[in-house]
Amino acid sequence: MSDLVRFGIAVESALLEGFDDHIARRGYENRSEALRDLMRAELAKDAWDRGEHTVATISIIYDHHVRELTDRLIEIQHEHGDRVIAATHVHLDHDHCLEVILAKGPATVLKRLADRLIGAKGVISGDVTGLSILRRGARARGTRDP
Ligand code: NI
Repeated sequence: MSDLVRFGIAVESALLEGFDDHIARRGYENRSEALRDLMRAELAKDAWDRGEHTVATISIIYDHHVRELTDRLIEIQHEHGDRVIAATHVHLDHDHCLEVILAKGPATVLKRLADRLIGAKGVISGDVTGLSILRRGARARGTRDP
């Protein structure tokens, strides 16, 4: 890690105690690393909110007996073939399937892809998580879709 900058912050003691308890439970060895991770997470969230270049995991659970749903989900992914990196399919039980789709690109595009998959008729539940592909410590702003 290069170019470290030290700074001081003022915070209520009760808040700091709560934070220390929290980071201890999470396994952090010191506040600095916990704060760095919080900052990175916030910058990644900001990049996602702004529609910048990110990676995303889209998870869906559906009943594969629903008519034409499996074909529809495959069709949607093929329409975004330049964005979908990989997909994993798990047969959860007799009726239900879990699919996790990994995609990269502008968050605006990935959000639309996630909305279409999660919103497809017969999908029981779904979730999308956007992650920054920025290097550790890099700024979230000014990223471009390569
Ligand atoms: Ni299945």
